[in-house]
Amino acid sequence: MPLDDTTDASAPPAPEPTDQITDEAGQEWWRSAVIYQVYPRSFADSDGDGVGDLPGVTSRLDALADLGVDAVWLSPFYRSPQADAGYDVADYLDVDPLFGTLDDFDALRARASELGLRIIVDLVPNHTSSAHAWFQEALAAGPGSEERSRYLFREGRGPGGDEPPNNWPSVFGGPAWTRITEADGTPGQWYLHLFDSSQPDLDWSNAWVRDSFLDVLRTWLDRGVDGFRVDVAHGLVKADGLPDHELPLGGGSMGGGQGGTGTPPWWGQEGVHDIWRSWHEVVSSYPGDRILVAEAWVDPPERLADWVRPDEMQQAFNFAYLETGWDAAAIRTVVEDSLRVFSSVGAPSTWVLSNHDVVRHASRLALVGEHPQGWGIGPRSEGLPNPELGLARARAASAVMLALPGSAYLYQGEELGLPEAIDLPDDSRRDPTWFRTGGERYGRDGCRVPIPWESGSPAFGFSPSGASWLPQPDDWSTYARDEQQGVASSTLELYKAALRLRREHDLGTGTLTWLDGFADDVVAFRVGAVTVVANTGEGIVELPVGEVVLSTMAVDGPALPPTATVWLVDAA
Ligand code: GLC
Ligand code: MG
Repeated sequence: MPLDDTTDASAPPAPEPTDQITDEAGQEWWRSAVIYQVYPRSFADSDGDGVGDLPGVTSRLDALADLGVDAVWLSPFYRSPQADAGYDVADYLDVDPLFGTLDDFDALRARASELGLRIIVDLVPNHTSSAHAWFQEALAAGPGSEERSRYLFREGRGPGGDEPPNNWPSVFGGPAWTRITEADGTPGQWYLHLFDSSQPDLDWSNAWVRDSFLDVLRTWLDRGVDGFRVDVAHGLVKADGLPDHELPLGGGSMGGGQGGTGTPPWWGQEGVHDIWRSWHEVVSSYPGDRILVAEAWVDPPERLADWVRPDEMQQAFNFAYLETGWDAAAIRTVVEDSLRVFSSVGAPSTWVLSNHDVVRHASRLALVGEHPQGWGIGPRSEGLPNPELGLARARAASAVMLALPGSAYLYQGEELGLPEAIDLPDDSRRDPTWFRTGGERYGRDGCRVPIPWESGSPAFGFSPSGASWLPQPDDWSTYARDEQQGVASSTLELYKAALRLRREHDLGTGTLTWLDGFADDVVAFRVGAVTVVANTGEGIVELPVGEVVLSTMAVDGPALPPTATVWLVDAA
């Protein structure tokens, strides 16, 4: 059709791209948004190679609009050798052929925009892949070069420099240092890698590194993304002199600094905040309300609040909330602390129960004993969960989370009630954690298994060929989306109803009031017109007067059974 300059009056106006919409200060979309994490390799595979891809995501976006989320966060899809499932980036500006092309990304974003979904991409600034041209140049250029100064190369200790420069451990197990062989064949310098040896840490005191990332931000902002999830946002800056630290560390693999031996010299250093201020300037120079969200495992919440001061990031994941068990007193405390602490810096609290690094909450909430974050669970783990109890707790916990003021993060598959895949065969495991600990820690594969869409299709609809990069448990047909669609008691319909009611009653921007008169093992609060009662105990809880609009278990009259949550509104 030839182009002309007359406008077809019958055509509906094109929707305004979401990245152009600016909300009133204090009312920005991200303050109350529900953001859905897509882990691209496990979401939907379009080409049958058994790995999810961007066209696959695009083809399934309608399901996310139907679920009722506001935005989608995509885990990395950049060029990468995939040693850490794409968190080892070899080119920040291009799509890995495994996932598609830049055109596929643009198509995804365009479709999302039509559906009113915003797109957040994942940026990994702490380290590159060892396959990145910058690291290859550093290796070639030799000690003392400008190229090497972009990374953390150091001489070894001891005779012949045979010992690593310090005692830091890798998050994935083993030492955080690897020695290279210099171009002339002699044993050379060591480089720091907080994660896998294929993920060398950049030196963020280097101005060239800082400037390069500002360019990366601008490139993706120009492409229309609504924001960035920032990987390891408590890393990047290391304490001067890279001092030894007392080991072993306490807590989960990503640190946090509580328990154990205090804040390690590689996490949560004051210098990171200057970086976030410079990123804030770039992001806020674009139209629309674009965001930075920090993956920062720091304790306590008072410290985490530093990441979301007005001139830094907009949000930070609330891992203290994620790490809270199904225990009323603990839930009340973390919710209370989170709301107070985040609001003290003018930021919304966030809420999250699952992601690609932790045991899915439908299993985690029924684990018995200590299970540090990142270690994972498998067939030989102790204290494995009772699946029915885990699902009941997950439904009840999600119903609490989705009523809370602030912004909530969902991880693909939780809306289906998916449990952790515990019985993965050893030889299918892919997480570097598994290899670097010689199988002592299972790692995170169990939460990364491709999700089921249709019970009767190959790979449950994940891939047309039936291939799946991690094997799907046989009984996952019962969790398939098509089995749950329209079934009132299903977890999918529970999530849809919660998101609809959350929107209708503006719960995300509401104010929480605790309700008195309940036993200690009950969480009871009100946001706007909605009363939420969650029973973490063993007994029956008498419900207040009101119409039950959401319940995670069948409720008989005013009696709330154990391990259940209801939402009530005042009867008309
Ligand atoms: C973050 C990611 C995790 C990855 C690590 C290293 O914690 O969420 O998946 O392994 O960073 O990039
Ligand atoms: Mg594919």
